[in-house]
Amino acid sequence: MTNLSLLPCLALALLGAQAAPETKPTARIQIDLSAPSKPVSPNLYGIFLEEINHAFDGGLYGELVQNRSFEEGVPPPGMTMIPKPDGTFKMELASLPAGVPKAKWEMPWPWNGNSVWDPKRALIGWSLHNAGGSTGTMQLTEANPMNAASSRSLELTVQKPGVALHNSGYWGIAVKASSAYALRYFVRPGTFRGTIRTELVAESGQVLSSAVSAAVTPGTVWREVMGSLKASATDPKAQLRLRFEGTGTLQLDWVSLFPPTWKSQPNGLRPDLAQYLAGLQPSFIRFPGGCYVEGLSWEMAPDWRKTLGQPTERPGMWGYWQYRSSDGFGFHEYLQLCETLKADALYVAFAGMTVHPENNWPLEKIDPVVQQTLDAIEYAIGPTTSKWGALRAKRGHPKPFPLKYVEIGNEHPPALYGDYYAVFRKAIKAKYPQIQVVMSMFWSGLNQPAINRVGDANIDIVDEHAYRGSGWARSSFDYFDRYPRKGWGIYMGEYAHNQRADFSAALDDSLFLMMMERNGDLVKMASYAPLLANVNKRDWGVNLIEFDSSRSFAHASYYVQKLFRENHPDRSVKTVVTTRPPPDPKAPLMAGKVGLGSWDTSVEFKELRVYDGAGALVHSDNFVDLSAFEAPQSGAWSVKNGVLQQTDQRTSPAMLLLKRPLTTGKLTVKARRVDGREGFLLFFNAENRERFLFGNYGANGNEFSAIQERGVPDDCAFRGGRSTPGGMEKGRWYELSLVFTENRAELFLDGKKVSDARMERLPSFFATAGLRQKESTVIVKATNYSAQPQETELVIEGAMVGEGSGRHAIYQASALSDDNSLEHPTKLVPRETVFPVAGNRIKLTLPAYSVSVVRVPVRGLPSP
Ligand code: AHR
Repeated sequence: MTNLSLLPCLALALLGAQAAPETKPTARIQIDLSAPSKPVSPNLYGIFLEEINHAFDGGLYGELVQNRSFEEGVPPPGMTMIPKPDGTFKMELASLPAGVPKAKWEMPWPWNGNSVWDPKRALIGWSLHNAGGSTGTMQLTEANPMNAASSRSLELTVQKPGVALHNSGYWGIAVKASSAYALRYFVRPGTFRGTIRTELVAESGQVLSSAVSAAVTPGTVWREVMGSLKASATDPKAQLRLRFEGTGTLQLDWVSLFPPTWKSQPNGLRPDLAQYLAGLQPSFIRFPGGCYVEGLSWEMAPDWRKTLGQPTERPGMWGYWQYRSSDGFGFHEYLQLCETLKADALYVAFAGMTVHPENNWPLEKIDPVVQQTLDAIEYAIGPTTSKWGALRAKRGHPKPFPLKYVEIGNEHPPALYGDYYAVFRKAIKAKYPQIQVVMSMFWSGLNQPAINRVGDANIDIVDEHAYRGSGWARSSFDYFDRYPRKGWGIYMGEYAHNQRADFSAALDDSLFLMMMERNGDLVKMASYAPLLANVNKRDWGVNLIEFDSSRSFAHASYYVQKLFRENHPDRSVKTVVTTRPPPDPKAPLMAGKVGLGSWDTSVEFKELRVYDGAGALVHSDNFVDLSAFEAPQSGAWSVKNGVLQQTDQRTSPAMLLLKRPLTTGKLTVKARRVDGREGFLLFFNAENRERFLFGNYGANGNEFSAIQERGVPDDCAFRGGRSTPGGMEKGRWYELSLVFTENRAELFLDGKKVSDARMERLPSFFATAGLRQKESTVIVKATNYSAQPQETELVIEGAMVGEGSGRHAIYQASALSDDNSLEHPTKLVPRETVFPVAGNRIKLTLPAYSVSVVRVPVRGLPSP
């Protein structure tokens, strides 16, 4: 190892990526009220609800007993179970349409990932305790069902009295001292004679409530038991216990426990979670999915008709997100929630298309599926003289519900979707011309082939989804400005910064909202996704509102939405933002640590050479020792005969970084793959195992080579990463090299370029402005990503800004990684200050890492 020159210090080289501005940052937001303005959609802010992450069962829906009707183990219709070595099963379609090879059904995540079946789930929530000499057994039975909806019940045989049946709820039953819990269950006594005593208990068995006792004598008729359990203590992890004092064999079904619910509605909602929804004042609610609507097969797609009637008469269904939905919160309840929240309903109908395009309902036989949708509309808004309208009236709601939109399916990629959509749209418009039909797009962007097939004139509004990573919003602030206008509107039905659940996500989402507000002629509606998640079973990484059995919190993004909703302008006005100092185009963005590594692969390296940006050799390593390197971040590294070896094949990634950082320069090294799944890694702009750029030779199971990123500095966006197909052979020495300048990198293999990429510095300050005409108020929204406060001047032109006071709502964090949590649910909430206004130039300080909403009263507004 020879160290040819030493750079003065690490800090200097890292300066490029983390540069601190030399002068105090200032911004100017110039608002011209006399320039033409655009309407902001009055329905922009809505919500999307789906049974994912136990959003309903074990969440918003108040029921505390998990698997209350013992149906969790009922296999989804149309599926065959293929046993797996771990005791679980893989679900496959019982039969595929003629001519479709089985392999066609094998699709990557998320489709097939959701087809795992665990037979242990059948009794999830329930356990039997033989204590104090009692003996008993339990099993599921299909005999003597309680009603047509219930295919299973629990058969319990008590040989010696005292057997206790526990339900642990959804990761605990939260009980509060002095609250009363509504108990209801059904029993078929069979041969049992004795008493069933029901109580709330702690895990230790300590009794936490009053008891409900039911005397039972042998019989063959199902009987209902109801009562109230008053809690004597608070416990987030209590259990429901049914103790059987007697002997014999009985059947139990539909064991239910409800806490006090939101607005005291029967079969209602968990109050804290419902309150979060109400806080967003949604102008519409999209339901019930998402992928949930599609099903893995058409046979298991949801049918809204099965969610009507008494909750005891709803069979429930196996949901796309790998658990059963009780459907206790069904179609009627969704509509009722819309009404309560004064929101329009947006019902997503099963389109006859599933997540497996090979398993669609044949288009030529689609009529019954279309009819199912027409019936749903009739139930919601049809006259009480109609079949379904009459049923609605019978349920106590003769008035129509506020159903305004019907979406056809969810995220179906091919052009073929256009054909399905067209049939539904025609049928809906013929009968209900007032309904806006929403055309679903895929995960991101437009499904242009489907749009082409139906033609722009046959589209009211398209539902585009946007799950975006860090940096996207900052580099795509003009996304909607550039969007082609085709006469139809856009609904961003699922959007979210989807990479990090923290304040940086909230800042990105604030930009997304600004982008939509200022394009009100195009973007009509938007809803964040997913909204709710039980922390004990997250199906999705980034969610808005999270909870366990007793606690809940909303991520920072929630408060941004709330703030924007509360300050919803009706027109967006011309706004010009200038910041000082301007970004330095020469500041290096690729600088940082460099190093060697591999991904689940044992590799060898030799003859490492490192050159600086001027081409001078600054480090040459023939691997006598590892003194030039930091302690490995990961992997098993050693040197032998001038060769550096990494032998750990289970580390992703193994990482060894040079002590000496590099601002711009070149790395060359020889590398050989010994064994394992992939090839070699050359790191640059690396901080640690969480944040780095890398040349990846043999990426993705040894398929291609490319420059990739795992987290970039906060103020940068990574672009490119063009890839070249091909894997790394075992045992062959390759020549690798990586060149990087201030903002570009190139990767070479045996002298040939295989990839390039660039890094872009992102703006740190964004602002838009709007107007609330009736209130004569200018509303300015500004987001500051910088670690520095931004001294800001608002300049309002085209109207009078008299003397008075303005309001400045500030939502701020001490770091981009900051957020609320279960432990600290209101750590970050917006606060408001009042400031004096005298004239059209207003000076404000917008704090570091903050979103601001500023309201300024004006007079003499030009008419729109
Ligand atoms: O919001 C979570 C899921 O993301 C939805 O079910 C689906 O529509 C999307 O892919």
